[in-house]
Amino acid sequence: MNKHPTISRSTLHESTRHDSGPKHVSGSAEYIDDMIEPAGTMHAYLALSTKPHAEIVAIDYAAVKAAPGVIGVLTAEDIPGENDVSPSHKHDEPIFAAGKVHFWGQPLFAVIAETRDQARRAAHLAKVEYKDLPFALDVRAAQAAGGQLVTEPLKLERGDVAAGFEKSPRRVKGSVTIGGQDHFYLEGQIAMAVPGEDEDVTVFSSTQHPSEVQLMVAHVLNIQQHAVTVNVRRMGGGFGGKETQGNLFAAVAAVAAKKWNRACKIRPDRDGDMTATGKRHDFVVDYDVGYDETGKIRAVNAVYGARAGFSSDLSGPVTDRALFHADNAYWYPAVRVRSEPLYTNTVSNTAFRGFGGPQGMMAAERWIEDIAYDLGCDPLDIRKANFYGTDSENVTPYHQVVEDNIVHRVVDELEQSSDYQARRKAILEYNAGSAILKKGIALTPVKFGISFTATWYNQAGALVHVYKDGSIHLSHGGTEMGQGLYIKVAQVLADAFCVGLDAIKIMATSTGKVPNTSATAASSGSDLNGMAAWDAARQIKARLVTHAAKLYQCDEAAVEFVPGGIQAGEQFVEFAELIASAYLNRVQLSAAGFYQTPKIHWDRATGRGHPFYYFAYGASVSEVTIDTLTGEYVVDRVDILHDVGRSLNPAIDIGQVEGGFVQGMGWLTTEELVWDDKGQLRTKAPSTYKIPVASDVPPIFNVRLAEWSVNKEPTIGRSKAVGEPPFMLAMSVVEALSMAVASVADYKIAPRLDTPVTPERVLMGCERLKREARG
Ligand code: MTE
Ligand code: HPA
Ligand code: MOS
Repeated sequence: MNKHPTISRSTLHESTRHDSGPKHVSGSAEYIDDMIEPAGTMHAYLALSTKPHAEIVAIDYAAVKAAPGVIGVLTAEDIPGENDVSPSHKHDEPIFAAGKVHFWGQPLFAVIAETRDQARRAAHLAKVEYKDLPFALDVRAAQAAGGQLVTEPLKLERGDVAAGFEKSPRRVKGSVTIGGQDHFYLEGQIAMAVPGEDEDVTVFSSTQHPSEVQLMVAHVLNIQQHAVTVNVRRMGGGFGGKETQGNLFAAVAAVAAKKWNRACKIRPDRDGDMTATGKRHDFVVDYDVGYDETGKIRAVNAVYGARAGFSSDLSGPVTDRALFHADNAYWYPAVRVRSEPLYTNTVSNTAFRGFGGPQGMMAAERWIEDIAYDLGCDPLDIRKANFYGTDSENVTPYHQVVEDNIVHRVVDELEQSSDYQARRKAILEYNAGSAILKKGIALTPVKFGISFTATWYNQAGALVHVYKDGSIHLSHGGTEMGQGLYIKVAQVLADAFCVGLDAIKIMATSTGKVPNTSATAASSGSDLNGMAAWDAARQIKARLVTHAAKLYQCDEAAVEFVPGGIQAGEQFVEFAELIASAYLNRVQLSAAGFYQTPKIHWDRATGRGHPFYYFAYGASVSEVTIDTLTGEYVVDRVDILHDVGRSLNPAIDIGQVEGGFVQGMGWLTTEELVWDDKGQLRTKAPSTYKIPVASDVPPIFNVRLAEWSVNKEPTIGRSKAVGEPPFMLAMSVVEALSMAVASVADYKIAPRLDTPVTPERVLMGCERLKREARG
């Protein structure tokens, strides 16, 4: 009997560094703009509208065409297929404005030139004549103008809402404004298209959704999908901003490449990117909530108005998901919530980490706070009083039963480990004795539904090749944007074959390898692609088992994959040797894997179903100090306990929790989008749009995974999705600021801070509360 060779044990569930980590930090990770350009590559630059809503009377391109280096101008007329990249297939998103512009910054045409600089300079030389039309920029203006919607709204209803209000001894009504957010991915939008023979074109796109870019490019070129190959090695961040927003850039590059039969690259400047691409939806939620003296909610009625922008894009599913999280972790005996995805003359808003969920939850946390301040108690007590039960009081507004509720344990453990109660007491004492500086502390929970609510997206494919030397090629439909999907799926495959990670080559994502993929989104990348890769391995392994049983003359049941190879009865065979013999015996060493999420269904028309496979949970405690004279503040300490089921890779997951929290904190505190009264976005560069930097990370930042948690569903390794849920942990920062502000009026008045809670809002909040307290 051969001895097992020494081989690294399985890395599944182990902290394993990001496959590109050393390349990220040394600068050798290749992004599209780093790629060697094919000889003769042209460069495209977009000309953007300078009106929020207008008819285009005429465009004079003479100066553009005469500018140095200009090869040509690309307009709507140059598009062989349809001038549209609407991901919802509502035909409402032209590549180039046709006849009308709907927002300031809408692409009018593209200049194609020998260099990027030449294209950029020439793009400003067109003379555009507009005829102004009336415009509405935000939720309230859109509602006042009649409330035109970009897509069908959703209503969720459960229980007898009228009776719930009748039975409610107390009631609170109000409105909360929740701001938007720019993705501020470090690598901006970019695409490079290389023309091939016949109708072929290869597109390198910074996209979370290669299959959709493929479809869009085919559509605008009026060719079949098989002629288009889209490749994505990695993105320098996506955060939802590359789920659909890459379509236009890829389409422009591809049309130019085919028109002139030369490669074409397009990369907007940061301010062009921020002006012309969609962001997180800001919302105004009007609410009416009935409750009793113990703080238990009896009825909720709310309307979620969202600034959708000029086209539908993903506003339907985003506003749906807002409603799906109108409950956060709370049970409403009676509830009616409605969405309004409003047409506005602003850029079309899109997916952003949490996908409407964060906005939905922020509203829930607002009325929890209102109730707490009305009853004069710690908001944490109101939160606990309303948590979903485990066996009863567990039906969501969309009629799905919460079967995996662990919010009580997560919150209890965090309350203990963060020493919440003692710290809150100390803070109340501190505030009583501190005239100018005030502190606040808050604990907020998160419950986030995992699965695409568009049920058919919950599928994935993988393609695995084992070469004759035992090395393995791994392709799957997921894209890498920094979140660590590639390493997780490689870990799954290494674990399945019992080989080391170095045996596995992680291939760039390509539509030529795995077809008809879903966007890497909804936090489902590792759930879906991990399972698909596992399924491919399963098929190859089954063939190897049959082969080994024959070769080594034992029962198939006696063949087992062990570290470094297989055990076939008494015989140990190294993996490479096994593969070599399998090849000679004509065993197929390649397989396509597939996965579809079980259990889920959803009927949008009735607002009923089981849209989520499971829920991910978490909780955070934030402590802040504010200066009541200036509104300035610091986040002093943050404690987090987050549920990722059985982690596939704790180091990656903790990185996702930390990054998600800090990005959420940016959204809720310093990142403010400001449009002027002419409709122009004024915060379109880091000088005016403040994202968190390293020094904004809380000095005390205790992040733990709920190590005891195991997914009740048979997900890959019993893990849970991690990408989005931690984003919403940042809500505790808002509520801690809220407590600090409330202290100026002895916690008797609800502070009702809208987000982002900028220092200005903190200051104005303090001033308002002081004024109201004086009477
Ligand atoms: N983490 C990094 N570093 N960069 C990103 O762009 N996107 C987030 C999250 N974490 C993102 C990220 C979003 S919006 C989603 S939906 C998930 O990652 C997508 O990846 P996953 O499904 O593999 O978790
Ligand atoms: N989440 C993220 N992206 C999506 C979804 C979703 O639920 N649906 C469609 N795209
Ligand atoms: Mo994430 S917003 O689902 O890309």
